[in-house]
Amino acid sequence: MAGSFSSGGVAVITGGASGIGRAAALRAARSGMKVVLVDANAHKLAATAAGLSAIIGADNVMAERVDVAEFSAMSDLAARVSARWGSPMLLMNNAAAFVSGGAGGILDPNDNWQRLFAVNVMGVVNGVQAFLPGMFEAGRPAVIVNTGSKQGLTNPPGNPAYNTSKAAVNAYTQNLARDLRERPDCQISAHLLIPGWTTTGDAQPHPSAWMPDQVIVFMDDAISRDEFFILCPDGETPRETDEKRIYWNAMDIIANRPALSRWHKDHKQAFAEFMQRPLKL
Ligand SMILES: NC(=O)c1ccc[n+]([C@@H]2O[C@H](COP(=O)([O-])OP(=O)(O)OC[C@H]3O[C@@H](n4cnc5c(N)ncnc54)[C@H](O)[C@@H]3O)[C@@H](O)[C@H]2O)c1
Repeated sequence: MAGSFSSGGVAVITGGASGIGRAAALRAARSGMKVVLVDANAHKLAATAAGLSAIIGADNVMAERVDVAEFSAMSDLAARVSARWGSPMLLMNNAAAFVSGGAGGILDPNDNWQRLFAVNVMGVVNGVQAFLPGMFEAGRPAVIVNTGSKQGLTNPPGNPAYNTSKAAVNAYTQNLARDLRERPDCQISAHLLIPGWTTTGDAQPHPSAWMPDQVIVFMDDAISRDEFFILCPDGETPRETDEKRIYWNAMDIIANRPALSRWHKDHKQAFAEFMQRPLKL
């Protein structure tokens, strides 16, 4: 299968003005794609658009200040992109909100929960619903990448709203991928990007965190191999560690252990010992 960046195609990247989305946008531009940069942050949008224009020329960049939580705005954008350039060959639904978990977590203000779901879950659904009909109509090969999180898989305590939203992105994207593969002659695939610890936003680089470019190289390689789950390692977490954490989490159900037993006083020791052993499936 071809990678995610096809010369001459159109890439639509939400949350494209910073971090992982920005690295994807730059990679798309360097691969000869036209780029539709979607972001809510006007300042970062302008800065990243300038960087892209320097590579592919301003005529090949659409910098769109759009809130992915608003379906009408996403739908309007899809219509404008279609009229100007046609349907995307890469749609990356990557924007996310990170409202702090706060002291309460579960009892975070309802507004926090609403906002995280509106952006992190419905933002992804909105992107697909706005652009997918045009992608079907074009009948060309295309790739959809939704950005999830390990927090949506292993559910570490601390920010339940974020974890729950990313668990929904995981469930949604699996359904999307199955739907696409069952459609006769459909050449569109969907993938779940699961970044590890990555230096993004305004954070300073940390030796254990990956840089966004590394995530995008890893993503492109995985898509070339037609992999659905793009589980990125980072400088402190090799794949084997992620596999064991995910396995332990799934085994909570099968072994009828308490919820999130990894952090339960009666199971912590067993988890620590499990992590020391090789994983046997
Ligand atoms: N950085 C990490 O360690 C890490 C780990 C796992 C998952 N992720 C995921 O990676 C994705 C990218 O995050 P990042 O780390 O690059 O963060 P980032 O803050 O650098 O970039 C996120 C971008 O999304 C934009 N955005 C936020 N809300 C928006 C909205 N409603 N509409 C449009 N744009 C919006 C922001 O303005 C920002 O430019 C997110 O889905 C995040 O959950 C990141």
